[in-house]
Amino acid sequence: MQAWVIGNWKQNPATSDDVDVLLNDLCAAISTTKRMSHDNSARCQIMVAPSLIHLAAVSSRLKATSVLCAGQDVSAHSASTGAYTGECSAQQIVDAGATWTILGHSERRQYHQESNDTLLQKMTHALSQGLGVVFCIGETQEQYDGNQTLTVIDNQLAVVKAFIAEQPELIDSLPTRLIIAYEPVWAIGTGKVPTVTEVSATHQHIKQTLAGFADSLSTMTVLYGGSVNADNADSFAADPMIDGALVGGASLKAGSFLAIATAF
Ligand code: G3P
Repeated sequence: MQAWVIGNWKQNPATSDDVDVLLNDLCAAISTTKRMSHDNSARCQIMVAPSLIHLAAVSSRLKATSVLCAGQDVSAHSASTGAYTGECSAQQIVDAGATWTILGHSERRQYHQESNDTLLQKMTHALSQGLGVVFCIGETQEQYDGNQTLTVIDNQLAVVKAFIAEQPELIDSLPTRLIIAYEPVWAIGTGKVPTVTEVSATHQHIKQTLAGFADSLSTMTVLYGGSVNADNADSFAADPMIDGALVGGASLKAGSFLAIATAF
């Protein structure tokens, strides 16, 4: 199975010049990795999700490489254009050069009150425009402490269930167009990580739940996200239930990001 390592740049870097520096470093790190002959690009797909303002420039710069580009969100409004100030449609994100988008990140859920209904609309628009979707799920610290992780995840995966109920003809395409990213909210940007055993068990639950929705979903990719770095990536990569990583902070340093990708 192909691994995925995805860099979620969030609201970074600050300027276009800083983006150029990161891209230069990333391209240099990729060619160094290839020269050192541990190029694993065939088994690990690398993708970055820049902010919308930088997306077109980044995708244009990375066109000649095997690195893919993703958006971090899409509008919930179905129209490709229209009077929706501050929004960006799935079609516009495709036009900017992305082939995927992240949806349902906990920061969107927390700061923008994204509900399952909203996320179902966004998933529908993204997939209908040909964007693959990296769908984020995960519990808060309080929910983790209350042993509610699996209940929370089941509730969040209900979006996938609702999507396939609405569009059953797309079920067989989902394993290559939909990725689940399990990101415990309490592990994001904190340096705290669950044990690999915990992540593995949660991923197993996610995979079983998806297979329960439809047999063909048993092969779906499930990534782990939350304080992944060059030092701990190996331990996550060694577990067969963990198909890659969604990386925040460490994706802003090309060397660390490539080291994580190489681990998978
Ligand atoms: O989407 C990736 C993210 O939320 C994890 O962030 O900084 O903990 O790797 P970080």
